[in-house]
Amino acid sequence: MPSEQSYRKRTMTQPIQQLTDEHGRIRGMLSCFEAQLDRFERAERPDYEILEGSIAYCQEYLDRWHHPREDALLELLQRRAPPEAGACAELEELHLRLARTTGEVVKVFEEVERDAEYSRARLVEMGRILVDDYRRHLDWEEANFFPALRGHLLPEDWREIAPRFADASDPLTQSPIDQRYRILFSALDEP
Ligand SMILES: [Fe+2]
Repeated sequence: MPSEQSYRKRTMTQPIQQLTDEHGRIRGMLSCFEAQLDRFERAERPDYEILEGSIAYCQEYLDRWHHPREDALLELLQRRAPPEAGACAELEELHLRLARTTGEVVKVFEEVERDAEYSRARLVEMGRILVDDYRRHLDWEEANFFPALRGHLLPEDWREIAPRFADASDPLTQSPIDQRYRILFSALDEP
């Protein structure tokens, strides 16, 4: 039977595990998205469903749920450990920047769908900026932000934040999967 201590430890780190698992799926999505940018660059036909699914995932799940949950954790860290929170203060700005870049990618993607030939190079350029920013950001969070949370938040903080992690789940883990993410989801499984 698990001890009280191991139960508490699991409860405390469960949100970080959830975020880390999502980071794994985000990295998978970025690779699929990047493969479609490569196709654009080689003047081949990309899989529009993967492009659309990736963009929808960024806007509808990451910007709306994943990043706000991390922002809420930063608020708790500010309360518990101001110097460590200060070192992570750029987090919210980085999240806003990712949302802005995603918005730019959406605009250019819509132009490409309207068949504006000149927009293809712009989509590749903006898409690569988004992929690079995301990868850097995930690495930074895992190296700096998550360890600070693990080190400084108290059991009552994890209890307080728990409902924020229960109100919406990663659409890439849902069954049946939303139609918009179906092809992206299958592509995540490919080597
Ligand atoms: Fe994150």
